[in-house]
Amino acid sequence: MSGAEFDRHAASYDGGLDNPVKRMMGSSADQFIAVKARWLLRRETGLRDGSLNLLDYGCGAGDLMRVLADLGARPNFAGCDVSEGMLAEAAKRWPARHGPSPALAAQHGARTPFADGRFDIVTISAVLHHVAVAERPGVYRELGRILKPGGRLYVFEHNPRNPLVRYVIARTPIDENAILLDATEVRHGLLDVARYDLGTEYLMFMPPGIGLLRDVDRVLTWLPLGAQYVVSARKVA
Ligand SMILES: C[S@@+](CC[C@H](N)C(=O)[O-])C[C@H]1O[C@@H](n2cnc3c(N)ncnc32)[C@H](O)[C@@H]1O
Repeated sequence: MSGAEFDRHAASYDGGLDNPVKRMMGSSADQFIAVKARWLLRRETGLRDGSLNLLDYGCGAGDLMRVLADLGARPNFAGCDVSEGMLAEAAKRWPARHGPSPALAAQHGARTPFADGRFDIVTISAVLHHVAVAERPGVYRELGRILKPGGRLYVFEHNPRNPLVRYVIARTPIDENAILLDATEVRHGLLDVARYDLGTEYLMFMPPGIGLLRDVDRVLTWLPLGAQYVVSARKVA
């Protein structure tokens, strides 16, 4: 597993907004990230009080952590990635108004340098579809290792059951080697290596740029057709 593929996208990384269909749905990559960040803040209200340790695994340019901080989250942020170029962007793009940048660590394959049970919350967003199928179990094992008992893991992914998602991914340069996976595959992968209480919700039924339609998204989370899904996994103590 090498970061070289992403090193060449790092400096210009904008969340795949080089795709015209995606640009029609939202004018900035942050609008897409904010859907996940708002969902997390509703689910994890403790994120606002500064005592939780949160790791964003495969953090890329650090956008999820930055948007969470913009919306008022104050955990101890850490990020890791296989791409040194992406980590350099994450450090560079972190706004001074949010204080020191997150602790950023390079991965060696799936493995991170963090101690067992280090994190209360781990997020992994738009990463697994870039990981070769044979290497995914190693990622699931690592996520389970660094999460503390009772900790929560949130896996955000593109939903292959949504035809527009498949259309966009097939035409986005950064996704040229992507292999999409559905929520069932994530759930089985997680349960193969650790004990969790699991839940799944579907997100992003409406273009994220239209704030008035946010409530529609909130009532459809059960319908497996949203552009994104999130598998929530609470590690059994
Ligand atoms: C599409 S970007 C998503 C970045 C970020 N999570 C976000 O939501 O903005 C995919 C990221 O996954 C990283 N990545 C790919 N394979 C990985 C792996 N096996 N472990 C960790 N990160 C990986 C890439 O380097 C890249 O930064």
